[in-house]
Amino acid sequence: MKKSSKIADATGKLGILLVGMGAVSTTTIAGVLAVRRGLGRPIGSLTQMGTVRLGKRTEGRSPQIKDFVPLAALDDVVFGGWDIFEDNCYEAAKTAGVLDGELLEQIRPELEAITPMSAVFDRRYVKRLDGPNVKTGGSKRVLAEALRDDIRRFKEQHQLDRLVLIWCGSTEIYLTESEAHASIEAFERGLEANDPGIPSSMIYAYAALKEGIPYANAAPNLSADVPALLQLAQQTGSPVAGKDLKTGQTWMKTLVAPGIKARLLGVEGWYSTNILGNRDGEVLDDPESFKTKEESKKSVLDYILQPNLYPELYGKLCHVVRINYYPPRGDNKEGWDNIDIFGWLGYPMQLKINFLCRDSILAAPIVLDVALFLDLAKRAGMGGIQEWLSFYFKSPMHAPGLYPEHDLFIQLMKLKNTLRHLQGEELITHLGLEYYD
Ligand SMILES: NC(=O)c1ccc[n+]([C@@H]2O[C@H](COP(=O)([O-])OP(=O)(O)OC[C@H]3O[C@@H](n4cnc5c(N)ncnc54)[C@H](O)[C@@H]3O)[C@@H](O)[C@H]2O)c1
Repeated sequence: MKKSSKIADATGKLGILLVGMGAVSTTTIAGVLAVRRGLGRPIGSLTQMGTVRLGKRTEGRSPQIKDFVPLAALDDVVFGGWDIFEDNCYEAAKTAGVLDGELLEQIRPELEAITPMSAVFDRRYVKRLDGPNVKTGGSKRVLAEALRDDIRRFKEQHQLDRLVLIWCGSTEIYLTESEAHASIEAFERGLEANDPGIPSSMIYAYAALKEGIPYANAAPNLSADVPALLQLAQQTGSPVAGKDLKTGQTWMKTLVAPGIKARLLGVEGWYSTNILGNRDGEVLDDPESFKTKEESKKSVLDYILQPNLYPELYGKLCHVVRINYYPPRGDNKEGWDNIDIFGWLGYPMQLKINFLCRDSILAAPIVLDVALFLDLAKRAGMGGIQEWLSFYFKSPMHAPGLYPEHDLFIQLMKLKNTLRHLQGEELITHLGLEYYD
């Protein structure tokens, strides 16, 4: 990655367009509005609360990230988006049931003013859902053009200087790369011919990238992670990030697994199960959508533990992931992990983790950070995959031929070093020999 000589200032307004106004999106939007009004704190957000150490440990320089790199201010952010339901953001937040009614009442007029544009949706890709607020007629190409019109209209209506688009829609069925994904030309032919390998999320991604707008995918579907759309991202200088926000159980896994491996303890089995009662849980109850999620959740351990390098320790690992739809819990997911490990001379031990988390409370700060960092990347002239944002994702996008980096601490170091690099500061290697010269 080349260091950009100059990052354009974050002046004017930034539009954040979210596909899907469900639990994650409404918690993000309501959260930002609440923080703006001083009704809450942006806990969990690196862009709002994080610091970055600069120079030597003896220098005592650790500015806030938002003071170090030019990020859009929360006051300059305008939200919009699409959904297959007509509910405005207040009603959708009530349905999601994540945030207290009392908090939502205080920001009600602002939430009510955010109404979803009609969606590009096809039930073949999300079988458990159906709704009335959907664009009809025409080929996938026509639908893509309609989304581009939506984007331009939104920009004009709110007098925005820049935009970011994030897929926070439901998890689509499992798809693999096909011919229509091979090049921009093949993809555009596929749009024209309604190729079944192009699901709704790819049409949104195409529309954003064609407009030169950064795109991120909060869900595990392929979406922009195909050669055609990555070529388009390079061509239009649009930063891309994904896939699948690293929030509950997988976040925990990427904390614990590097620790076990660092001590060269073996892992015989890792059994993860969840109960979840929100709409996301309902969609994931469909085996084809679950398969997409399962692939995303399962790859993490293989990459962190590297069984090819340590066959004795991880070669026989049995990794099972389950998600059970259980409506009484709503958005408050409960996850259990049972980890069968072994140590010195092969003696077995067990680790049990019971995580009672709130999915969207963990996801909202990530959506905000990803939006603000993608906007930064765009202004810094960085198009294509932003691997430095791997920190936020379960299946980080990466260049062909590379393996993804899943270790949360390496990911964080990479993110902060990228910020240092962008601002011409020395990278931190943690070598530290100079302190003992
Ligand atoms: N909550 C988390 O912590 C978390 C973590 C990682 C990934 N995710 C993923 O993020 C996504 C959103 O999660 P959520 O909990 O908000 O789910 P949700 O079901 O509450 O919201 C998804 C919304 O997307 C809408 N939608 C679906 N297809 C659409 C389309 N084509 N166009 C426009 N809108 C569409 C649905 O109507 C729904 O309102 C899911 O795919 C989920 O798997 C969530």
